[in-house]
Amino acid sequence: MHKRTLLQTAAALALLGASGLSLAQDNVFKIGLILPMTGQQATTGRQIEAAAKLWMAQNGDTVAGKKVQLIVKDDASVPANTRRLAQELVVNDKVNVLAGMGITPSALAVAPIATQSKTPLVVMAAATSSITEASPLIVRSSFTLPQAAVAMADWAPKNGIKNVVTLVSDYGPGIDAEKFFKDRFLFNGGKITESLRVPLMNPDFAPFLQKVRDLKPDALFVFTPSGAGAALMKQFGERGMDKAGIRLIGTGDITDDDQLNDMGDVALGVVTSHHYSTFHPSAANKKFVEAFEKANKGLRPNFMAVGGYDGMRIIYEALKKTGGKGGGEALVGAMKGMMFESPRGPVLIDAQTRDITQNIYLRKVEKKNGALWNVEFDVIKDVKDPGKTK
Ligand code: PHB
Repeated sequence: MHKRTLLQTAAALALLGASGLSLAQDNVFKIGLILPMTGQQATTGRQIEAAAKLWMAQNGDTVAGKKVQLIVKDDASVPANTRRLAQELVVNDKVNVLAGMGITPSALAVAPIATQSKTPLVVMAAATSSITEASPLIVRSSFTLPQAAVAMADWAPKNGIKNVVTLVSDYGPGIDAEKFFKDRFLFNGGKITESLRVPLMNPDFAPFLQKVRDLKPDALFVFTPSGAGAALMKQFGERGMDKAGIRLIGTGDITDDDQLNDMGDVALGVVTSHHYSTFHPSAANKKFVEAFEKANKGLRPNFMAVGGYDGMRIIYEALKKTGGKGGGEALVGAMKGMMFESPRGPVLIDAQTRDITQNIYLRKVEKKNGALWNVEFDVIKDVKDPGKTK
């Protein structure tokens, strides 16, 4: 009798526990944010984590009656880690949304998990065009390399650049940058003398730059991922490439605002095309930069931070719209067609592609009050990803 009572109590407790738990679960909305917090891409992780926390500090952690919980995991930008962490976040933590993705291979490794578990995956950094086609659950808040590269391929030939050597990191975004720059530049009557690719991990630019020096093009077009630009710039300067009359151009990843101030005068005058500059002169951006710097000991927000900040906004707005009902597919549905003013300018989440439409700016590195900035001098408005065939 005693035993039975105990058993009954245990069962009841288990039931209560389970329902108590599910009640608690119902009132919590979990975001699993996977980022490279260590390793070569660590600046990306630091920027996005800081931006996500700033968004939450400014907008609270209660949305549609739910407590938003941010779970940050470090994948060191090793795709096998990203995949394992995503699996654990979905199965054990039962996250409502996956987010982050510092590099393309990480995003592609998680895409099947998003699809199978119907968990939205908000890509805040990775920028290869095809990523959004890897799962119907993917929405992107960063940019695509074709968006930036095409703008540069239109600007260069109008500004005395007829012969170009391209130099890119040898993986998804680099190959996108090379292809979309090249096709458009050739279409515009330019000539590509040589296309060089460097490894993503621990690149040594020296032998490539020597080759470029010998080829003596009007300009060298470069894509390297956020965080790698300073090493490239240093070696470009050391080899006297600028003095030899070779101009450096590229997507804004190479004059990354996170590192720009440490690059020195070799960066002065470098023209790049990109969707965000810390120097972007809008009221919304000034407010964002001030708050970000204040919360992070003066750290400048770069384009990765903006991807993280806007990604959080997209998640919050989708949760508000759906009230958390309908699961992952409803959330993605609510994200489609979203329009708002980002610190980078006006943006739209294209309802067909789930990719971001935004302004691309041409910018030149200038010194103002003793600091280096990417100063915008032209804009191409509302650029859809040129990489999408649909
Ligand atoms: C990417 O891996 O997709 C990637 C990473 C850093 C960038 C751009 C693209 O700056």
